[in-house]
Amino acid sequence: LGAKEALTRLAAGEWLLFEGDFHLGRQLLLSVQRRLEKKPDPSVTPLAAFRAQRQARHEEHRVLGRLLVELNASYVLSNRRAPDVRQACEEVWGPAAPEGILVSLRELLGMMGAAEWRRKGLSVPGLKGALTPHYGVFSPTRHEYVSLVLAAPSPKGKTVFEVGTGMGVLSFILLQRGAARVVATDVEPRAVTCAQENAQKLGLADRFEVREQSLFPEGRADLVVFNPPWLPEQPMTRLDRAVFDEGGEALAGFLRGLPEHLTPGGEGYLLVSNFAELLGLRPKGYLSGAINEAGLTLKWKRAGPPSHPKAKDSADPLHALRRQEVTSLYCLAAATTPRLGP
Ligand SMILES: C[S@@+](CC[C@H](N)C(=O)[O-])C[C@H]1O[C@@H](n2cnc3c(N)ncnc32)[C@H](O)[C@@H]1O
Repeated sequence: LGAKEALTRLAAGEWLLFEGDFHLGRQLLLSVQRRLEKKPDPSVTPLAAFRAQRQARHEEHRVLGRLLVELNASYVLSNRRAPDVRQACEEVWGPAAPEGILVSLRELLGMMGAAEWRRKGLSVPGLKGALTPHYGVFSPTRHEYVSLVLAAPSPKGKTVFEVGTGMGVLSFILLQRGAARVVATDVEPRAVTCAQENAQKLGLADRFEVREQSLFPEGRADLVVFNPPWLPEQPMTRLDRAVFDEGGEALAGFLRGLPEHLTPGGEGYLLVSNFAELLGLRPKGYLSGAINEAGLTLKWKRAGPPSHPKAKDSADPLHALRRQEVTSLYCLAAATTPRLGP
């Protein structure tokens, strides 16, 4: 089966089971992917270019995800020259099911990459000890927001809530900088498991707790931190939910709920990039309006320079915009002293 025919059939909605040599399967996947690539249209607006890029990636995900391989009941591939994928599968899905399964080759390759990364660990400048990434959990590969939290005033002795903890990187930095205790949340169950495991590995588990829930844990904290999904657009896949916040609901919910989760004199740290504004996805001034409306005041704001590799990639149609992207840490406080409950 050649790439051209495979693409026609996959795009038409067929599922293809690849039974041949594993390496040829991988090559077939790459050839189909190359055929799907489209040159960006330089005449469109940045927002249209951004949406076209996302649409193309979604289409790629849909089409390439239909090329399948077979795993037997012990997570062993039936293909010739296949690698041992048992550990990669167990890390994502747990112990093998009693029956064999068909799996998207593309997803399996992603899981194999994640397993390799998990073995190596991930170093984040400023964090003592390496993180263990998990498949499907937002990875702190952009360091500008991490540096902003590293440079923020000392959290010594403070109780902290972290909303949307991902791997837990910001919580761990605050704990290593002297915070008394962190209670974190995330809506993604994989993030909850990942953050818990990382807290244990870093020796912070006695001061760190993570719950699977939306927004805030119950009660109040001296410091409440959120690095939300940055763009108010619809997520297209499960992995997208760490980056795309449909209707800006997570951000708006955070601002609305913050005053009632702060102790008197408490502060909220919101990490936001201006990329949504640059794209025209959020009106200029939206954030200051929403901060006021929520009964909050801005105590201070610090910005970091863009350091994302894409900011230097001139082949990216959004290059010019990405160069103007700035990530800021907004320090927020309740405009009036919150009334404490019973
Ligand atoms: C941009 S990532 C940040 C992860 C991590 N805090 C960091 O800074 O590397 C956003 C995280 O928020 C989580 N999230 C999205 N909406 C949420 C909500 N309503 N409540 C709690 N967590 C949420 C996502 O699952 C994701 O892990």
